[in-house]
Amino acid sequence: MPFDAHGHLIPGSAPQSLAVPPHIARPPYVGLTAPPAYTGDNTYTEAEIERIRAAGRIASGALDAVGAAVRPGITTAELDRIAHEYVVSRGAYPSTLGYRGYPSSSCTSVNEVICHGIPDDTVLREGDLVNVDVTAYLDGFHGDTNRTFRVGRVAEDVELLIERTHEAMMRGIRAAKPGRQVNVIGRVIETYAKRFGYGVVRDFTGHGVGSSFHSGLIIPHYDSAPAYADVIKPNMVFTVEPMLTLGSHEWDQWDDGWTVTTRDKSITAQFEHTIVVREDGFELLTVSE
Ligand code: MF3
Ligand code: CO
Ligand code: CO
Repeated sequence: MPFDAHGHLIPGSAPQSLAVPPHIARPPYVGLTAPPAYTGDNTYTEAEIERIRAAGRIASGALDAVGAAVRPGITTAELDRIAHEYVVSRGAYPSTLGYRGYPSSSCTSVNEVICHGIPDDTVLREGDLVNVDVTAYLDGFHGDTNRTFRVGRVAEDVELLIERTHEAMMRGIRAAKPGRQVNVIGRVIETYAKRFGYGVVRDFTGHGVGSSFHSGLIIPHYDSAPAYADVIKPNMVFTVEPMLTLGSHEWDQWDDGWTVTTRDKSITAQFEHTIVVREDGFELLTVSE
């Protein structure tokens, strides 16, 4: 029973973790309770950036496949299986599977779930929204991306939230320029979101990504200045992944240790790209061919 009498989400039952063929290389944290400490910086050579792009292309393609399948009646576990099959059929590993014990190959976050929803037997209904977050690991590098999908037609306020969350992500990405502090990104996102009175989630952030899944570099989506003052450099790689809500930014977590919901059960949307910053702009590394 994945929805309660008020239509709010409640935990469902999750299938067993999906199998990855043995020839596919695992990231180093699989089987550990936490990843080994990351010591590198967040800038990469051109050859490394091409490898992040190759991983990112697979993650993006998985989202294309998932998006084509989203419809009323499908479960989040079925969406996870589609993402999983896409990633492993291209020789990549779904980075979330076994990351700090996370059991699934994607995150599926429905309606008031902000992020890290675990795919289960929840049946999507007309008017729901579902964010699917896929990270692929290939040849030693991760590419991390998510999108929010509409299930059939959604209410006007939800439609606008989805469109504006995507726009907020792109504005944050465009603000990322060498010489600026990373806190410029959240300043731009929050300024835009506040025009519409949206909540801006603070405690889940963008991050450095590449040879590690989460490098330790934090990219807030709110105006954190003077904190988070890391200076952006050419060839830096990180994610921008704002979560905006129709209500407050306050959150709760389920007893599963993962699922994060808005405390007020307001609807929330998210988009994510992995980007590389260039001298004169940026490139998206999580795009399909
Ligand atoms: N892909 C998510 C991100 O954008 C991280 C998910 S970690 C998990 O950073 F363990 F919840 F899968
Ligand atoms: Co991310
Ligand atoms: Co992600």
